[in-house]
Parts: sequence; C-alpha cells; structure tokens
Amino acid sequence: MRHVSFVALLALGLGALTAVCGNHLPEAAALNLNERFFDEVRELIKRRMETKQVPLVVDEVALQNQRSYDNVPIPAASVPVPVLVENWPTDQHSFGQVTAVSVDPEGNPVIFHRADRYWDVNTFNESNIYYLIEYGPIKEKTIYVLDPKTGAIKTGWGSDMFYMPHGMTIDAHGNYWITDVAMHQAFKFRPFESKPQLVIGKRFRPGGSVKHLCKPTSIAVATTGEFFIADGYCNSRILKFNAAGKLLRSIPQPPEFLSLQVPHAITLLEHLDLLCIADRENMRVVCPKAGLKSSHGEGQPAATIQEPDLGRVFGVSSYGDIVFAVNGPTSMLPVRGFTIDPRSEAIIGHWGEFKNPHSIAVSVNGSALYVTETGTNHQTNRVWKYVLA
Ligand SMILES: *[C@@H]1O[C@H](CO)[C@@H](O)[C@H](O)[C@H]1NC(C)=O
Ligand SMILES: *[C@@H]1O[C@H](CO)[C@@H](O)[C@H](O)[C@H]1NC(C)=O
Repeated sequence: MRHVSFVALLALGLGALTAVCGNHLPEAAALNLNERFFDEVRELIKRRMETKQVPLVVDEVALQNQRSYDNVPIPAASVPVPVLVENWPTDQHSFGQVTAVSVDPEGNPVIFHRADRYWDVNTFNESNIYYLIEYGPIKEKTIYVLDPKTGAIKTGWGSDMFYMPHGMTIDAHGNYWITDVAMHQAFKFRPFESKPQLVIGKRFRPGGSVKHLCKPTSIAVATTGEFFIADGYCNSRILKFNAAGKLLRSIPQPPEFLSLQVPHAITLLEHLDLLCIADRENMRVVCPKAGLKSSHGEGQPAATIQEPDLGRVFGVSSYGDIVFAVNGPTSMLPVRGFTIDPRSEAIIGHWGEFKNPHSIAVSVNGSALYVTETGTNHQTNRVWKYVLA
C-alpha cells in the first residue's frame, strides 16, 4: 500500500455515515456528528482493510492529473448571492405540484406541473407500474412559460400528453427535455409540439435494461448535444447518450466506485467537465466526470459534497463553475438553498427558506434563479424568483 487518498477516505466515511444514519440524520446530528463521523471512518477503513473489500491504494499522481482543478477555491467576491424577489409573481398562480422549472433561451422561466395529480401510495404498484393509466393523460396544460418580470403566464402547452410530470430541462436551442415517472420515459420536444423528436424508455413499462427506464427524474443536455438521463427512483443510475439518442455509457460502470441512491436532479458544468448529481437519499451532491470533450477521467473518483446540514438534496442547477442546490425535508434540518463549489468540494453559502422544494434553475445569463415547490394546494405549489447579485 502506498497512499490512502483523502478522496478514498472521504468516500468510505460517507458510506459509513449513510450506514449509520440511514436516510434520516439523527436529531442530535449537528452536535457530535464530526466526532462520530471520523470514528466511523476509522472503524470502516479497518474493517474494509481486514476484509479487502475495497482497494485503498489510489495513485495520487494520476488522481491529481485527472482532477487538476482540485483545491482551487473560487474567490468569495465572485460568488453570486441569491436575493429573493419579494411579491413575485405579482398575481398568484393556480398550479398543481410544480415539479420542474427551467429557463428558456429568451430568459423566461418555464414550469412543469402535475395539475390535479399527486404521487401517493395509490400511484404505483410494487412493480412500479402506474395504476391510473385508464384515466388518461393530464388534460390541463402542464407547461407554462412565465414572464420573468411579473411571473404572469405568457403561454402554455403540454395538455393531453403527460401522466406524472417530473423533470424538465430546456436546452440552448429551446428544446424541451422531459421525464414522466408514470410513463417511465424521457422525451425531447420542440416547444408546442405534441410529437416528440426523441423518446427513451418503453411507454408504461419500467425496467433496468439499457432500453428501459424506471421513474426517470431529470435530464442534462450539453452544448455538444450529448445528454444525460437520471434514471431515477428504481435504477439509481445515469445514462449518457449522444445527440442522436445512442447510449454511450452508464454511470456508475464497473469498476467505478460510485453508488447512487435516487439521483433526483442533474446539472452539467461544462467548463469543469463535471456532471453534478443531487444524490438525494445519500444526502450529498456528487460530481463525476462528464467525459464531454474526451473520456479522460471517466471512472475517476467523483467530487463529493456532503456536510451534516445538507440533508436530502432534491434540486441542483449550475452557473459557471458554481452549483446551486435545494434540499428537502430531512429530520430537523432547515430546508433551504445551498451554494456549492465543486472544486473545493465545499458548501460556500446558504440562502432561502422553503417547505418542499423540488427543482431549481438558473437563467442562461446568470441573472435569475428560480425554485419550485411541490405542496398540497395553490399556495404551497409555487415558484420563487431570486436575483443573483
Ligand atoms: C439576462 O436576461 C434577462 C432576460 O432576458 C434580461 O432581462 C437581463 O437584462 C439579462 N441580464 C444580463 C446581465 O445580461
Ligand atoms: C403491477 O401491475 C401489473 C399490471 O397490472 C401486474 O402485471 C403486476 O403483477 C403488478 N405487480 C404487483 C406486485 O402487484
């Protein structure tokens, strides 16, 4: 054994933490988590070394080459701070659960909502089959384009198309990339068209093969046209495709050491060639190499952001080299927004106050940030606007 890298230690430690805490941080977590955390790390490393389950030898030089952006924190002055826009929207909306928000190339916030549908115990059976197919798709428009200044609805579409909306990402060309957890499919649409240009997954047929998806959550699209699907609630994997929809790779892919638990949202940081994942039930953000310009670095240890106050991460979005995230209800932790520097693997800011945030998006020019919530009525199903100052 030559070196035990910090990354390997941290990864083991996080595994230990998850093993100890399960999906719920104990309420006294904030008090003595650090101490217990390191005890657990030490204990786990000892056990792993005895049983030789995980190689602890990591080539530090190769690692440094792969991750040369490491330990170069972003100067505080250049980190934008989200500031809430009060009284936005000026008129109240009457959306259903707003599961996704994205910003179109013109700077309009666009939302995807469930209208009168809720995802509850009667939605899927134990084989992940959607129970309510015979009720047909949602009749109301599920997509609304909003005015960035007032929040008023400018236009909408997406009626009679979707059953249980989840993710929506608008790419640089204005294409809409949508996931529907009931249909177990991911789609690429031109706006206002009802026929998709691309479909991934089998309609209403969940599965774990490379042809199936199972409750897919989110899509990220690169300027190269390559795209990533977070798949999702059952398969806990990311699938990477070329622009034509040909599968290129699956993340994780053996011998990659990355175990996801409900990748709930994804965002690309193209400059760093990272795909940052809201790894919800692991209560962290992990950023493996996206492999956009070359496959160099694919399979290397992912940048990992996990701190005791992060909790279950529901949404991620990015601007430049910064990730903005929202957590969701996790034991007693505050539900709020986080500003993350993936290069130093650190949370560098906290902001906002939410109840059940589900999605976050930053506008293309970085001037605005939106957060949506999945509540129980028209007051709590809502959209928040922040400006990035
Ligand atoms: C960003 O885009 C919005 C919406 O198109 C526009 O109103 C705003 O002036 C832009 N801001 C900058 C800094 O370019
Ligand atoms: C779920 O529903 C499908 C279709 O009706 C059925 O084939 C399957 O056996 C059901 N699974 C369970 C566990 O009930």
